[in-house]
Amino acid sequence: MKKKSAGFSTRCIHVGQEPEKLTGSVGVPIYATSTYAQDELGKPRLGYEYSRVSNPTRDRLERNLASLEGGIDSKVFASGMAAVSAMCSLLKRGDHIVCSSNVYGGVPRLFNQVLVNFGLEFTYVDTSNLKATERAIRKNTRYVYVETPTNPLMTLSDIAAISKIAHKKNVEVVVDNTFMSPYFQKPIELGADMVLHSTTKFLNGHSDGLGGVLVCTTKEQAEKLAFIQKSVGAIMSPFESWLILRGVKTLALRMKQHDESGRIVADFLSKQKKLKKVFYPGLPSHPQHELAKQQMTGFGALITFETGSLENAKKMLKRVRVCTLGESLGGVETLISHPATMTHAALGEKGRAAIGITDGLVRISVGVEDVEDIIADLEQAISAI
Ligand SMILES: Cc1ncc(COP(=O)(O)O)c(C=O)c1O
Repeated sequence: MKKKSAGFSTRCIHVGQEPEKLTGSVGVPIYATSTYAQDELGKPRLGYEYSRVSNPTRDRLERNLASLEGGIDSKVFASGMAAVSAMCSLLKRGDHIVCSSNVYGGVPRLFNQVLVNFGLEFTYVDTSNLKATERAIRKNTRYVYVETPTNPLMTLSDIAAISKIAHKKNVEVVVDNTFMSPYFQKPIELGADMVLHSTTKFLNGHSDGLGGVLVCTTKEQAEKLAFIQKSVGAIMSPFESWLILRGVKTLALRMKQHDESGRIVADFLSKQKKLKKVFYPGLPSHPQHELAKQQMTGFGALITFETGSLENAKKMLKRVRVCTLGESLGGVETLISHPATMTHAALGEKGRAAIGITDGLVRISVGVEDVEDIIADLEQAISAI
């Protein structure tokens, strides 16, 4: 199925997921091969030579994800961080990235502890502040890198406005769309030049594989990233590609339920006297609730709340039973985590304090279990505070 006009759910299920020609297999085959037999010297069949360069299962996933995000192509990598790293591999010494100050903690770790050693430069800025974002752009800036909503504080950045500002200065905008998935937010329609995902999260949806993707809007980006796949080698395996193709078939269904339950859980949390604050763009009290309604078509499953102290966070997290205490998000199972000691530990105490990540914060990724069970579990866990 090639028609761009097909609906989102249809494209989830059919683009790149066409029955296999030889046998009619409805499930996409996993081409578990490192190499391909060639009939004659210099004549690989269908262009496949070696699986670091290309693989039919991976190709199918790349077509599928490009379609869902409205890009022209996509390239998949071994993890979300491998995708961030691939994006930076397109730069050269002396290039500069403006990055949202509150992003997944692994991103500043890669930038500050690895890539600065290769001469790349970074400025962190609150990208919800358009003036500050514009001021941070320099002559050598190549990307504005935005995560929206941010992890874990659920702050939004205005993708359309940032794209306008950046494009005036010939700078590309890359949006990490992991939290929303293309079901709820389409950064390319809003002006972004590339979209990044940790496919580990909602796209896979079952917490059983790691991966990352960069969705491209130009042929040049896609060609350069294909060259990075081949040269650097941090590609997604055929099996992981298949897992995501399988998971993405139910993306629309899952996201609807994540959002419905997310709203109910956020409402419940916002009424808990023992909690100090709840961060969820779907709550009218969220300072960017209007922007959320404008740029997203749902509010999703990620909610962060303030328990008041590390001790309180520890007490409640010890009590959860339906919710699984662990890193990550976006699975069918409800995952609950502690940003200060987990996802954002690498920022250090000062780094976390600078962007408002306290020791009492807890983040929940609401799964698709019965929402009454999730709430009952949270209720008994919060009572331990
Ligand atoms: C928003 C976001 N982007 C990127 C990443 C990195 O992805 P991965 O863990 O697949 O390398 C994460 C991981 O938690 C994330 O939450």
